[in-house]
Amino acid sequence: MSALNPPYTDRRALPISFYPLLSAEDDVDSAAIDRFTDSLKQSEPPDRSTLLYIHVPFCESICRFCGFYRRLTTDFAPLSRAELLDRFTSALTREIACWRTVIDPGVHAIESIYIGGGTPSLLSCANIEAMIGTLRRQFDLRADCEITFEGEVRSIGDPEKLSVLRDLGVTRVSFGVQTFHESVRKLNGLQPTLDQIRRCADRVRNAGFQVNVDLMYGLPSQDFEIFMNDLSIAVHELRVSHIDLYDTILYPNIDLFTRREVFSGMLPPEEEGVRMLMRAIEFFRSEGFVQLTADDFVRPGAEYRMKDLIYGSRSGHSQVLAMGPAAVGYLGYTSYRNEVLEHYLPSDWQRPTIQRLRTSDDHEKANRALIFYPKRLMLNVPDHCIEPSPEGKAILERQIACGLAQRQPDGIVRATELGKLWVDSMSAEFLSPSEKRRIFKLVQ
Ligand SMILES: C[S@@+](CC[C@H](N)C(=O)[O-])C[C@H]1O[C@@H](n2cnc3c(N)ncnc32)[C@H](O)[C@@H]1O
Ligand code: SF4
Repeated sequence: MSALNPPYTDRRALPISFYPLLSAEDDVDSAAIDRFTDSLKQSEPPDRSTLLYIHVPFCESICRFCGFYRRLTTDFAPLSRAELLDRFTSALTREIACWRTVIDPGVHAIESIYIGGGTPSLLSCANIEAMIGTLRRQFDLRADCEITFEGEVRSIGDPEKLSVLRDLGVTRVSFGVQTFHESVRKLNGLQPTLDQIRRCADRVRNAGFQVNVDLMYGLPSQDFEIFMNDLSIAVHELRVSHIDLYDTILYPNIDLFTRREVFSGMLPPEEEGVRMLMRAIEFFRSEGFVQLTADDFVRPGAEYRMKDLIYGSRSGHSQVLAMGPAAVGYLGYTSYRNEVLEHYLPSDWQRPTIQRLRTSDDHEKANRALIFYPKRLMLNVPDHCIEPSPEGKAILERQIACGLAQRQPDGIVRATELGKLWVDSMSAEFLSPSEKRRIFKLVQ
């Protein structure tokens, strides 16, 4: 079967990073939060490997495609930006202390920390020191714990901030570029100039960090040639160690969707998305990069754990302790989402600021590793893990029979070159009909 003779009729990019999926019907009261945290105190997690994620949801400007929870700092006037970020930092340090009473660091092995956004680099040096310092004091991090700090070009290249990040043990710095093409950048509301991007990459690299940039494909007006040029500039001129490559997801709240009468005619056709991804994978291979998961590529030696932990790791159940407004985590067998900023900032709460909770039923527990295997590009569930459902196993066998995945002599199932182009469609097959309805409500 060829990639251009597609195995699925629908190739929509889906936000399958969290499972079980949360929606408004999972809103909870404080008694449910207490039951959840009590259960965490009393039981061993299904997997000790843990990612600690912190969401810093502030931005200076909003990009037209961005579907993440983010707010303009100016939305909170009359609070000044500095006051807002100070308030956020004290709410966060309180949340960290709150979780410390629930999570035993002797049980949860925190292998990776990701401080993402939004724009964490808007925080002042004092804010950053308070945040990472509190994490280190409360969680007694392992010496080899990787720490990624995400930022935006205009604020992450500040030499003083980079030096503070280095001193605090941050190992990797990530920022969004999306595309280098000036008119595509303008159309998508991307404000940093190419000079600012280049200067930022130089400073971050020279300060001794691994450098990750985010690139996107499927943006309005971004054709194949523009995209291939984007890859080449990132690798050859910015000399990044790592690229996160995102297919554009059309969330209902983004400009690309709400103003679709303007943008939809400019979106590349579906086959173009397949071609872009296929050539990108070939390009990275020829440059000696390793494909770690469906959407990240690294130079050898720059491997990291964060994405694998998000996608459940080997057991399908690695843990995500998420903090910050609207952050989504997975503890025990339960997904949770935090309150949004308006509820989060007052910080007079006595328990984690959770808005939604959903505990997996047996079907969801059993199928989690299968749902994430296309993203991880492999399924190597250890024997002691939960047996997938018979329906899940049958879908897996069908995917193998179609050439989307291959079982190797050691029993590991790996996505094939064809499968790598269809990961979201492969994952979606394992969702129950009601979960499919939920996820397709999140995208257009
Ligand atoms: C949450 S953002 C934070 C990045 C940082 N604020 C910046 O702009 O430099 C992380 C990445 O998600 C990706 N992203 C945002 N919206 C997306 C969408 N609708 N579909 C696919 N990827 C998206 C972009 O590549 C972005 O850089
Ligand atoms: S891509 Fe980054 S800067 Fe742009 S709106 Fe999203 S979080 Fe903010």
